[in-house]
Amino acid sequence: MKIGIIGLGNIGSAFYHGCRKAGHHSLRCFDRNPSKLKTLTGINPEPKQLALLCESSDLIVIAVKNNDLAHLLQQMLPFVKEATPLLLTTVGIDRDWLDMHVPLSMSHPVVRIIPNINIMSAHSHTGIAYLNKVSDEARQHIEMLMTSLGTIEHIDDTVCDAFASLYASIPAYLGIFLSAMVDASEHIGFLRETPSYQTISNIMIQTLEMMNETHQHPAVIKDLVCSPSGITIEGINEMEYHKIRSVIIKSFTNSYMKSKDIKTQQ
Ligand SMILES: NC(=O)c1ccc[n+]([C@@H]2O[C@H](COP(=O)([O-])OP(=O)(O)OC[C@H]3O[C@@H](n4cnc5c(N)ncnc54)[C@H](OP(=O)(O)O)[C@@H]3O)[C@@H](O)[C@H]2O)c1
Repeated sequence: MKIGIIGLGNIGSAFYHGCRKAGHHSLRCFDRNPSKLKTLTGINPEPKQLALLCESSDLIVIAVKNNDLAHLLQQMLPFVKEATPLLLTTVGIDRDWLDMHVPLSMSHPVVRIIPNINIMSAHSHTGIAYLNKVSDEARQHIEMLMTSLGTIEHIDDTVCDAFASLYASIPAYLGIFLSAMVDASEHIGFLRETPSYQTISNIMIQTLEMMNETHQHPAVIKDLVCSPSGITIEGINEMEYHKIRSVIIKSFTNSYMKSKDIKTQQ
């Protein structure tokens, strides 16, 4: 399957690396900034022009932000073959907006995909919303590609932005938490290299695996770690004093409100 990727920013280049890891080597990439192509290995330089990419791809992933999407669609649609599925990662758009720019009654299958950055190692959990009629064959191709890049979840297109605000943001939150724990370890006196990112991230992974295996509620795990009057509850008390749960809830809620804001600004 020939896969075209347009927009090689954060998620477009992660998609590219995930595809290579999953063994998809027939990739065509385009970005309005040609220097971004140079950072990718194994790219056949010939079809780097937008028109060539559109004509020669069996499926096109569009990974640009919502304020760039209308212009891009206008540029590319004349060159896209009739039945080529368009997979959009863009957040802050809705069905009515899309219908204005890619009439959904046309034969291009239009699909919203909401991956997370873990797609770069083919471990994304991706939401998929089909916006119009997709042939069985095209659906099979799309799902084969997306399951090779992690797990998938069929979602309604009305919840794409909520899905992005929560699930696509999680790696960023974990990144903050992990780097703060490394700072904490240094503050306590460990050398930065000793309990490296690797050790702390392994413990995070092992904890999550244990939670998944035992099906224990996270609050139960927290209680199991806290001995009465012990050292962990001392730290947890500090977190609760600073309303960490409220901060987390508000952070995700603000992301969701922002996705609504950018939609109304279109
Ligand atoms: N990052 C994530 O983890 C993630 C996850 C799920 C969904 N999303 C959504 O995916 C979309 C893209 O996010 P991102 O983080 O990848 O943004 P980004 O880093 O800004 O990447 C977008 C890329 O597309 C390029 N571009 C813009 N217009 C173009 C055009 N007409 N032709 C070719 N290339 C064009 C941009 O070039 P310039 O640098 O010149 O602007 C940039 O390189 C957003 O709507 C975001 O919400 C992101």
